[in-house]
Amino acid sequence: MQQISGSRVHQGPSAGLEIVERLAELGYQLEPEALEIICRYRGSKEDLLKRIVSSTDRSVVVIGSYQVSCHLDSALISSTPSALPIPSARSASLAPSPASVSLSPARIVPSSAELKCDITGRSTCVGDYSDFVHYFRDRYAKIREILSRRLNSRPIESLGKSTTGREVSVIGMVMDVRTTAKGNRVIELEDPTGLLTAVIQKDAEIYEQSGLIITDEVIGVTGTSDGNGRVFVKSLLWPDMPNQTAPLEKGSGCALLLSDLHVGSKYFMAEAWQRFLEWLNGDVDDPSGLASKVQYIVIAGDVVDGIGIYPGQEKDLAIMDIYEQYQAAAKWLNGIRKDIKVIIAPGNHDIVRQAEPQPALPDDIQRYFRSDMLFVGNPAWVTLSGISVLIYHGRSIDDLVLRLPGISYAAPEMAMIEMLRRRHLSPIYGSRVSIAPEHEDHYVISRPPAILHCGHVHTVGIARYKGVAVINSGTWQSQTDFQKKMNIQPVAGVVPIIDLASMKVRKLIFT
Ligand SMILES: [Fe+2]
Repeated sequence: MQQISGSRVHQGPSAGLEIVERLAELGYQLEPEALEIICRYRGSKEDLLKRIVSSTDRSVVVIGSYQVSCHLDSALISSTPSALPIPSARSASLAPSPASVSLSPARIVPSSAELKCDITGRSTCVGDYSDFVHYFRDRYAKIREILSRRLNSRPIESLGKSTTGREVSVIGMVMDVRTTAKGNRVIELEDPTGLLTAVIQKDAEIYEQSGLIITDEVIGVTGTSDGNGRVFVKSLLWPDMPNQTAPLEKGSGCALLLSDLHVGSKYFMAEAWQRFLEWLNGDVDDPSGLASKVQYIVIAGDVVDGIGIYPGQEKDLAIMDIYEQYQAAAKWLNGIRKDIKVIIAPGNHDIVRQAEPQPALPDDIQRYFRSDMLFVGNPAWVTLSGISVLIYHGRSIDDLVLRLPGISYAAPEMAMIEMLRRRHLSPIYGSRVSIAPEHEDHYVISRPPAILHCGHVHTVGIARYKGVAVINSGTWQSQTDFQKKMNIQPVAGVVPIIDLASMKVRKLIFT
């Protein structure tokens, strides 16, 4: 085990640099947010570093805020941002976090939006067998690391005769889940060393809970081994989010979360958008002064309606040319107040590959838009004045609604919470969502975001789950004929707004 050695970490102005140097000696880098949290810790930093290092896998290169948060006594976190200087010279990842800037409520802080991670320009997929092997191994390894913080598991290959009758724990990927004629539930689990059959008897306490198990997710099971490749399960463990009541970061200003504009559709609600622009740009009375606090607009995909997305779409289109659809969208979006940073991700109606993860909109489309807009992929991690936002269009909600009991389009936030519990944006492979087998699984939620923002289902859902603001942002397309036939009632022209300092969410209505 690696150890923090040498003199104690001081509490003075040099502590930030000292922490970075001590961890660098052991081969670790620190995310700026993680350093900020350590600097704000009022307990023994020495002991905290020891706990972090002793529990961090050696394959981890960059220690993030999640790894730090797991070892904190939250009562010992200073509520004010650290006054300690945060070093910036050692690596790009050590740049000062905007969250470290001390703010008063009245102070206007320039918008600072930064793309942290997406697929754009990084696709490795050519679609051969080894791509799938890499993809699933990466998914397993990342989620296993999260689960192994709470479960002392063993590899499946070690469950031989010597384990007969003993209690064992295993972390595996669900290959299959079925119910037998006798009503027992059988889960086939796999890890890189072997296969295991996990049995949940129909009278077991966890039987109902086991109805939530879905294929391709990674879970932990504990039970009694029969020494012959079977375990009778007593408890189930999902990776889940750490218990946290609020993000440790504190941002500034407000962000509007939008998605599914569907410009080009004859159902695009131009009048509602015009009302929205007038409010945002201060052209109408706004006694609350809320519009002036907006610093960011995030659009989680389906900027336009696209062409040929579903059979018979042409009869729903007002603009039949995809480029003209984007030109029209740019006209609407370029009308947004210029001091607002606009972040645009694609969805399944946009002009990028249908297989996810999707890259940012191409350059020949971006050139229609204002040059200060930030184009990101789907999914994408961004920070808004230091607040981490995970943007995902949300196509996997279709799979989760189909598969999980109690999950519906009317409450998309419940499906999004299921993503957080599984630490994966699209856990079911090969159903409605086409996922390209990249060498890295970009859908694993490796660290808790402050905000999870999805769209796709055209209904608004807002919840808070273990400190994460879970928001689905509705649409700007009124009910289509298809939705009428399917009895789907979209929530259109309603915009969730989140205060990045208090993380409070409200809905604004422009219909
Ligand atoms: Fe959509």
